[in-house]
Amino acid sequence: PNDFKIAPSILSADFARLGQEVDDVLASGADIVHFDVMDNHYVPNLTIGPMVCKALRDYGITAEIDAHLMVTPVDRMIGDFAEAGASYITFHPEASGHVDRSLQLIRGAGCKSGLVFNPATPLSYLDYVMDKVDMILLMSVNPGFGGQSFIPGTLDKLREARRRIDASGYNIRLEIDGGVKVDNIAEIARAGADTFVAGSAIFNARRDSDANCYDSVLAKL
Ligand code: DX5
Ligand code: ZN
Repeated sequence: PNDFKIAPSILSADFARLGQEVDDVLASGADIVHFDVMDNHYVPNLTIGPMVCKALRDYGITAEIDAHLMVTPVDRMIGDFAEAGASYITFHPEASGHVDRSLQLIRGAGCKSGLVFNPATPLSYLDYVMDKVDMILLMSVNPGFGGQSFIPGTLDKLREARRRIDASGYNIRLEIDGGVKVDNIAEIARAGADTFVAGSAIFNARRDSDANCYDSVLAKL
C-alpha cells in the first residue's frame, strides 16, 4: 500500500479544548480523527460518546472520523454514531453477539464498517465477512488506555491481515492502534499497515502557546 493515512487518537488530546486540538493536528497534516469510545464495561475506562462526535462536526471538523467502539452492546450505538457524523464505525467482534448483523447495521446507516482485533483475538473472525468490512483494525496494545508499548507480535499479524486483504481483492484499509511512534512506524508500514493511529506520540508533543506544535511530529510520522 502507498496510500498512508495518519489518525491521531484524541484520547490523548486536551478534552477541555478538543475542537482546537483536532483543528491543530489536521492543519499539521493528519488525515483521520480517531475517536476512542470506552464504556467501563468492555474496557476498564470511560471516555466519550456520540454527543462529542456531533460537537466536533458542529464545530466544523470535516475530516473523516473513525469511531473505535470499545463498548458492549455494540448495536444500539451504531445509529447514534452515524447520526453524530462518524465516517467509520469499528467494533470488537467479542463485544457483539452478531458480528455479521452489526457490520450490516453500520453500512446500512451509511458509514464505513470495521472489525477490531485485540492482541489475542484471531483473524479468523474475518472468514465469512470480508465482503462486509471497509477497515480491519489491529490492536497492538490491549485496549483501554493510551501510552502503552507496541506488542511486537502484532507485526506478524499485520502481515497475515495484509495477505488476507490482498487475496480478497476488496478495498479494505488496514489500521494499527497502540504504541505507534516515530521510531517504529516505518517497520509497521512495511508489515502492511496503511492507516496509523497515534495518540501519545502526537499529543504529548504539545507545547504551551505554540499553535503549530504538532507540525514536527506529524512531519516525522
Ligand atoms: C487504546 C486506544 C488507542 C490509544 C492509542 O485502547 O484504542 O487509540 O489511544 O494511544 P497510543 O498511541 O498512545 O498508544
Ligand atoms: Zn483506538
